[in-house]
Amino acid sequence: MARRKGQLKLGAFLYPTGHHVAAWRHPEAQADAGANFSHYVQLAQAAEAAKFDLIFMADGVGTRSDNHRYLSRTAHSYVAQFEPITLLSALAAVTQRIGFVATASTSFNEPFHIARKFASLDNISGGRAGWNLVTSSSEHEALNFNRERHFDHAERYQRAAEFAQVVTGLWDSWEDGALQRDKASGLYFDPARRHVLNHKGRFFQVKGPLNVPRSPQGHPVIVQAGSSPAGKALAAETAEVIFTAQQTLDDAVAFYADVKGRLAQHGRQPDDLKIMPGVFPVVGRSESEAQEKFEQLQSLIHPEVGLALISGLTGGVDLSAYPLDGPIPELPETNASKSRQQLTLELARREKLSLRELYLRVAGARGHWQLVGTASQIADQLEERFVNHGADGYNIMPPVLPTGLTDFIELVLPELRRRGLFRTEYEGRTLRENLGLHRPRNRYQSPETAALATLAA
Ligand SMILES: Cc1cc2nc3c(=O)[nH]c(=O)nc-3n(C[C@H](O)[C@H](O)[C@H](O)COP(=O)(O)O)c2cc1C
Repeated sequence: MARRKGQLKLGAFLYPTGHHVAAWRHPEAQADAGANFSHYVQLAQAAEAAKFDLIFMADGVGTRSDNHRYLSRTAHSYVAQFEPITLLSALAAVTQRIGFVATASTSFNEPFHIARKFASLDNISGGRAGWNLVTSSSEHEALNFNRERHFDHAERYQRAAEFAQVVTGLWDSWEDGALQRDKASGLYFDPARRHVLNHKGRFFQVKGPLNVPRSPQGHPVIVQAGSSPAGKALAAETAEVIFTAQQTLDDAVAFYADVKGRLAQHGRQPDDLKIMPGVFPVVGRSESEAQEKFEQLQSLIHPEVGLALISGLTGGVDLSAYPLDGPIPELPETNASKSRQQLTLELARREKLSLRELYLRVAGARGHWQLVGTASQIADQLEERFVNHGADGYNIMPPVLPTGLTDFIELVLPELRRRGLFRTEYEGRTLRENLGLHRPRNRYQSPETAALATLAA
């Protein structure tokens, strides 16, 4: 049954020069974007003026390749750019309403660090922070953290589950109102409302409490982006937003039903988790203008970059020895991202694509959902997936920045608004209020005092 009209949630997924793999070479691109703070100020303020729910900054803790020939031709693969929590903290100072989601890895961090940094960002921004919990799929990142190789897939999800328990436990260190800072009595905080975690588990031993107060939205929104069975299981237990990559309506609807269906076993309601697939929109004033824009970007892909990209998406095997116009070779399943590997190989086999055709197909959106067309054609697709329960909103992945974001704002948003699918004003002040997520109750607080605290906050 199609859902009644409602409002989409929208994220602006900012990849420095844009999501297209050749974006940095485009005449409209800000080529030094990765390390250009005023570029991000401009984007954040534009996204906020357009009433986006959030800005999302993905992250990799290290460059994701050793292939210098490829790296020297790309602004992707985290080759040279800001660390996102630092960047978003600075952007919090020049914005008032928009939310900030940053990726942080459970494989290459300690839970105390993550709890502390995101709680700080949440307080600095007045309750607008979100943590995209990832287990990291790149072997290269492991080499920066005293390891010879990455944890295997199952173990990194076991570690992630315990990691999330510790982080949320630490975020409950302070009950609402615990820090009274009463100058007259001399009592800085109420000792009965500060809690020591004393966690001892398989991976972590963390005493606590956290030395950052509770934020106006209780704690940061937890986002998850893994789509393997282990990823979905973790999301059902912990996540409040899922970022995902689905190519077709059928896949999106199946993913949506699968993940939402897992919530009840954790005592959660379907609305407690928002599903926001990535969309790579190339918008034109006419269909042919959109197609030209896309072709211009495609023509900028160097074969070295295209091949390295599909090698990454299909499990990390070096494909440069295979003929560019030949079929995809048989590839072993590796320790990298399972869901993305499957998605990419299925596409190649289904459509009998050569290596060159495959990289031209996926290079743009890197496996995400690609829409090339007019504002109304793009709005049709976004609406269809939304009303058929394939998405609660979208993470917009502009092909080139800043113009890809401005095109979406100026052309597609008015169309979505005309259809009653997107807000004209923010509903609230915190990221939770705008996403329609409830404020989490501190585990040590009774429902009654928590309700009072929510009213006060
Ligand atoms: C929209 C989206 C954003 C993602 N962002 C990141 C990221 O910033 N850093 C990262 O290491 N992985 C990122 N991932 C990858 C996933 O978190 C996950 O590691 C990957 O899909 C492998 O997990 P799986 O095997 O459970 O699918 C992202 C995935 C999606 C769909």
